[in-house]
Amino acid sequence: MRTTRLPSGREVPVLGQGTWGLGERPENRQNEIDALRFGIDIGMTLIDTAEMYGDGAAEALIGKAIEGRREQTFIVDKVLPHNASRKRMVEACENSLRRLNTDRIDLYLLHWRGGVPLADTLAGFDDLLGAGKIRYWGVSNFDVPDMEQLIRLSGGDAVTSNQVLYNLSRRGVEYDLMPWCERHRIPIMAYSPLEQGRLMKNPELRRIADEHSASPAQIALAWVLRKEHLTAIPKASSPGHAKQNRVALDIHLTPDQLAALDRVFPPPNHKMPLEMI
Ligand SMILES: NC(=O)c1ccc[n+]([C@@H]2O[C@H](COP(=O)([O-])OP(=O)(O)OC[C@H]3O[C@@H](n4cnc5c(N)ncnc54)[C@H](OP(=O)(O)O)[C@@H]3O)[C@@H](O)[C@H]2O)c1
Repeated sequence: MRTTRLPSGREVPVLGQGTWGLGERPENRQNEIDALRFGIDIGMTLIDTAEMYGDGAAEALIGKAIEGRREQTFIVDKVLPHNASRKRMVEACENSLRRLNTDRIDLYLLHWRGGVPLADTLAGFDDLLGAGKIRYWGVSNFDVPDMEQLIRLSGGDAVTSNQVLYNLSRRGVEYDLMPWCERHRIPIMAYSPLEQGRLMKNPELRRIADEHSASPAQIALAWVLRKEHLTAIPKASSPGHAKQNRVALDIHLTPDQLAALDRVFPPPNHKMPLEMI
């Protein structure tokens, strides 16, 4: 598994596993647990979740899937904006830890920016770091002005990741946010790298997929993973999809194929507001 380094030097895999929507249907539960376990076995040990997903159901499913394998995994969790104050964050984090059946979250993100002042959120993260309940903290859905405001705060430059929407059909961040994060050495985590499955019918993706004897999903993922230091977190509900996603990491798109994708999914030539799903 290819890895990248967090600012602390800690290595994480560039391909992880998303969990939005997992744990919500009893009839799918075993297959979803099998998918996560199989994903861990093949190196996708970074698992992304949020207290919001299924009101804790995704965290609880992960808790089951990582039983006996916690030390192999790197858990990324997200606190809801209305819980992201010094006063409320400890309780939110403890609830997540209980559902995850673990004693610490590796990377704890503010899910998106809400009404709580950032300094108050940083104080909450600091308390959790001090108590050993989280290892690192970061943000999600932060555009350049939010990041600039964040790093100007005392301790704000310890931000360990910005998790944002990035895939072939959502390239706006290439214009300014990505270069900004690269300059400040803040790793980007790409969410919805498959555009929740909506990219799969694109004829150009299908054509390139045929050239690689692969699927359009694998090409869409290989395209995101062409960026060396970025981590992508596709969600797979079955071991079959998890395996295909892992294989995508070994697909290298040629300059011609990249240019063909640029024609269908043009890179941004002006500032675009950060998109969210
Ligand atoms: N920070 C945020 O605000 C935020 C927002 C959205 C998402 N996220 C995170 O990012 C993760 C990924 O994003 P997402 O779940 O929105 O969408 P996604 O990963 O772009 O797409 C998931 C969809 O693609 C399908 N899929 C997965 N692997 C496939 C394969 N190899 N071939 C064909 N189809 C495949 C899945 O089907 P199956 O389920 O049938 O496998 C599912 O329908 C989330 O689960 C969540 O952890 C974060």
